[in-house]
Amino acid sequence: MEIINRRQRMFSISRKLRRENKKVAFVATMGALHAGHISLIKEARQSADVVIVSIFVNPVQFNDKNDLLKYPRDLTSDAAMLAEYDVDYVFAPEESEIYPEGFSTYVYVEGVSESLEGASRPGHFRGVATVVTILFNTVRPDQAFFGAKDAQQIAVIKRMTTDLGFDTEIVVVPTVREESGLAMSSRNENLTPEEREKAAVIFKGLREAKLAFRSGTRNGSKLIGIVQKAIESEPLARIDYVAAVDAETLEHVEKIEDKETILSTAVYFGNVRLIDNVVLNRRQ
Ligand code: PAF
Repeated sequence: MEIINRRQRMFSISRKLRRENKKVAFVATMGALHAGHISLIKEARQSADVVIVSIFVNPVQFNDKNDLLKYPRDLTSDAAMLAEYDVDYVFAPEESEIYPEGFSTYVYVEGVSESLEGASRPGHFRGVATVVTILFNTVRPDQAFFGAKDAQQIAVIKRMTTDLGFDTEIVVVPTVREESGLAMSSRNENLTPEEREKAAVIFKGLREAKLAFRSGTRNGSKLIGIVQKAIESEPLARIDYVAAVDAETLEHVEKIEDKETILSTAVYFGNVRLIDNVVLNRRQ
């Protein structure tokens, strides 16, 4: 496994891999790797000849400076974990490699970036779309793997990939959960043991709504109500939003018919903000 810090070196490796007709799978991360990332890497490993993982804490996608400062960074232990899973290259650039002096070009995906996470975290998806564009242009992957927990991020990246004509397939990997049902996230480390235990209520609420959907409830507001009621039963939880949205456009869905719909929520435990979702009417 080679750790690459320079963009020029990454460029020349991706040029060489293309010349050799290798299939390249890419997993973009901000480090602080956990079982959720490992499941992306395992899928990537099965699917391609070469696996490239990036580790870059992207300052442009943080709208809260404290959140950026608090973000865990440990390249040595992340790299040790990646070596165990047979990763070929780790791209871990300094900030100045990605955003050199004078940087002034940003990618903004209209519509799909604006609701839910986009409304609660202004500028977040502009930062994500910009860095993913730079990473895709640097790595030139055939496939890129993202976790289903970040449903809106996936919708933004898919839209952007189509609109900007990237020759990269976006592969979505199911959310990995702790035993309690809590979705794996680097942010779980910032919860107290009590909050971490109680945060299982998020998935419990989503699962109850999914069961109601399976039993025939098709009204978006009713399903939202089921999730809200379950989460509000936990005094430590503070809901930011619960929404039923079209998986592709992120527009609110009132009556769920045959389009893939996401029931999505963001919930605070203390000052830790957790997101999760379930898919209704999954497209095959
Ligand atoms: O999901 C993440 O960890 C980040 O948003 C990503 C895709 C690595 C871009 O910085």
